[in-house]
Amino acid sequence: MVKLIGVNKINTSVFISGKGTNLKNLIKFSKSNNSPIKINIVISNQKKAYGIKYAKKNKIKIKIINFSKKHEVNQLLKILKFNNIRLICLAGFLKILSKDFIKSFKGKIINIHPSLLPKYKGLNTHERVLENNEKFTGCSVHFVNEKLDGGKIILQKKIKIFKKDDIKSLKKRVLKEEYKLYPKSIIKILSNY
Ligand code: GRF
Repeated sequence: MVKLIGVNKINTSVFISGKGTNLKNLIKFSKSNNSPIKINIVISNQKKAYGIKYAKKNKIKIKIINFSKKHEVNQLLKILKFNNIRLICLAGFLKILSKDFIKSFKGKIINIHPSLLPKYKGLNTHERVLENNEKFTGCSVHFVNEKLDGGKIILQKKIKIFKKDDIKSLKKRVLKEEYKLYPKSIIKILSNY
């Protein structure tokens, strides 16, 4: 495989709202030789998001955006274009992006979701999966379109649910898979660029 040196990497922005463990994992991935991405800027809609500390630690630019304010979103669009951002990775980002925003980055926004989409779109997936006595769950990486968790699926990973599983254990086991699936999905889509 051809090694990608810094300048050839795709400028990427990660959007978060909370803990940011996927962000942490993507930063680690971006630093590896076989990674096609460079994370230039992290966007959070929450100024207290725990995940911001991973960006700080790695000296990545951070911008807090109030997505309910149109002028802030317009300013964000300018920042992303100025930084030549060609991929946006949503990672535990809890805001719904506007149609216009999605249009300006058409085919360049991806998201990770902790279920086997199209099942269990939205929040509280592990609770609902357990309530329904599902035998399997997993995670999905998909393109973002205007339908919630509804865009084309890039990759999925299925795992078995054990009798002893509760919300906490399931979340932990699914997250472990997410950390592998997100980088794999990025490699998959960018190999077609
Ligand atoms: C993950 O389970 C992700 O699939 C979902 O939100 C969670 C975020 O976790 N969209 P973290 O903030 O990356 O730790």
